[in-house]
Amino acid sequence: MSDATVFPVPEELAAKAWVDEPRYLEMYQKSVDNPEEFWTEHGKSIHWFKPFTKVKDVSYGPGDVHIRWYEDGTTNVCYNAIDRHLSTKKDDTAIIWEGDDPSEHEYITYGQLHNNVCRFANAMKARGVKKGDRVTIYMPMIPEATYAMLACARIGAVHSVVFGGFSPDALAGRILGCESNCLITADEGLRGGRKVPLKANADKALESCPNVDTVFVVKRTGGDITWNNERDVWWDEACSNADSDCPAEEMNAEDPLFILFTSGSTGQPKGVVHTTGGYLVYAAMTHKYVFDYHDGDIYWCTADVGWITGHSYIVYGPLTNGATTLVFEGVPNYPTASRFWEVCDKHKVNIFYTAPTAIRALMREGLAPVKRTSRSTIRLLGTVGEPINPEAWNWYHEVVGEGRCQIVDTWWQTETGGILITPLPGATPLKPGSATRPFFGIQPLLVDNDGKTLEGATEGNLCIADSWPGQMRTLYGDHERFIQTYFSTYKGLYFTGDGCRRDEDGYYWITGRVDDVINVSGHRMGTAEVESALVAHPKVAESAVVGYPHDIKGQGIYAYVTLNAGEEPSDDLRKELITWVRKEIGPIATPDMLQWAPGLPKTRSGKIMRRILRKIAENDFGSLGDTSTLADPSVVDDLIDKRMNK
Ligand code: WT7
Repeated sequence: MSDATVFPVPEELAAKAWVDEPRYLEMYQKSVDNPEEFWTEHGKSIHWFKPFTKVKDVSYGPGDVHIRWYEDGTTNVCYNAIDRHLSTKKDDTAIIWEGDDPSEHEYITYGQLHNNVCRFANAMKARGVKKGDRVTIYMPMIPEATYAMLACARIGAVHSVVFGGFSPDALAGRILGCESNCLITADEGLRGGRKVPLKANADKALESCPNVDTVFVVKRTGGDITWNNERDVWWDEACSNADSDCPAEEMNAEDPLFILFTSGSTGQPKGVVHTTGGYLVYAAMTHKYVFDYHDGDIYWCTADVGWITGHSYIVYGPLTNGATTLVFEGVPNYPTASRFWEVCDKHKVNIFYTAPTAIRALMREGLAPVKRTSRSTIRLLGTVGEPINPEAWNWYHEVVGEGRCQIVDTWWQTETGGILITPLPGATPLKPGSATRPFFGIQPLLVDNDGKTLEGATEGNLCIADSWPGQMRTLYGDHERFIQTYFSTYKGLYFTGDGCRRDEDGYYWITGRVDDVINVSGHRMGTAEVESALVAHPKVAESAVVGYPHDIKGQGIYAYVTLNAGEEPSDDLRKELITWVRKEIGPIATPDMLQWAPGLPKTRSGKIMRRILRKIAENDFGSLGDTSTLADPSVVDDLIDKRMNK
């Protein structure tokens, strides 16, 4: 990767933006020299029922790990996202909803949002949902998904949004994992013209979740579903019977706001817990500065609310800033590859935020689908989810943005709550492929495998020293795993799991995960999860899964499979296993390649050598490294033979 090309900040942009470069440097310095003062000032940007007097109480261990921000303040996230704007923005659009079918859209004002959220909040209360309860949301991208999240926040219930593409099993695991007793779903979802059987999936999941006593169902398509009179409640009926007055619960800053399950390198998905005050301060502040959001801007983040990006940058950040946020039900290439840009023109989008995988997929469709749209309202383009290759960055910049828009490549994680490394549009000269510099208060460190901090231009494991308000607080029900995963590898530091290079200008270049997590189309997938889905098949004895470079997805899923004695490999069985994984976890976990492996390379103590499997998957046989420590080195030759003859 060359660092040669630098795109300076256009002067007129620097003049209009919240911060230019000198201001960034000054604010950044202050944020790390005197965090208490810096975060006191910015903490005041949200509304507090009872103002905080304590700002920060953090220990990264060793031993006890705790993270508390604004801990004696009280507030309510829903109040900040809606009620606070009612005196000035009651009739302004809060949400633009664009349906999967281009003929469908809806504008929802802050006043209407308030009404819809309060009614549903009361409907939940009427079914016994109360402060502290966990509520699972398994929804398509319809306005009700945001109402459900905000209504939970309003009454102090803790939501856990599960992406609508997950299977019944994956949903059940997440419901049980946070002990929810209430589920919110829809009859069916609609994506790219295809129906997604959400209620049927939910029914199946609930067979193993006896504690769920209420299922709210939004009628989206009117498709056939089965119904359980005791348990199931139509959303519309419940809301029409409910009062539109529902006071916002006074929440402590450190009360949990939501849980979001994400994949780790081992075992079951982890329930990442975010709390109230600090999360909101950080989500709103990063939304304002990173996207240089100004009053009146139309802002569109194409993520799904099932991911952290949807939480922080479709719902909580933008609405807290009083923005107009676009909620899109569909996909980038339906009905045509012009869809994103047509929606930008139709709703006059100023700020557009998407994933590199979508850019690469659209890039492959050529210039015409872009060029037949205007895109003239777009001022700023953002990306998130995985490293963006310079080719895709340049295409985004030149073709989509006509060379006129700054690009913000934002690096962050489910765990970080908000963006940590990113350009600021008015302040940061850009280098394609680099997430550039840290946001205010963020102190990235690169360390070697022994934990030694590396200085200057170098490459290492990316850690963060010290806390920021949006940081996760724990893993639901497993604080020990939280400490183990994030604070034990490098003492006194938060370990991100990413590798990273820092260049001579202090710019950061994320190189990808250094653990057994792969990033498929910007979605995080634990190799262990795919492996356990495969070995759950009666014909499979063992499996090892690794990532490999994939043109569109960034990384693809490469599965090595050892069959039980007596089972014969065949193309039919290969297809069957691929379909099996799709059903066990969901379409995002579909293996791209499945190779038969009569044996896997293991050390004498039985540990699978993934490093070797990664190289073989990458077709990089020259640098397998030392294989002499393997229990049976001939296994490797066999795997290479099979790889070459595929
Ligand atoms: C992992 C986090 C944060 C929302 C989306 C994914 C990778 C994320 C970038 C970027 C390079 C990136 C990292 C990170 N990642 N953004 N701009 N450049 N890599 O959230 O599922 O929690 O995944 O995504 O590897 O650790 P997530």
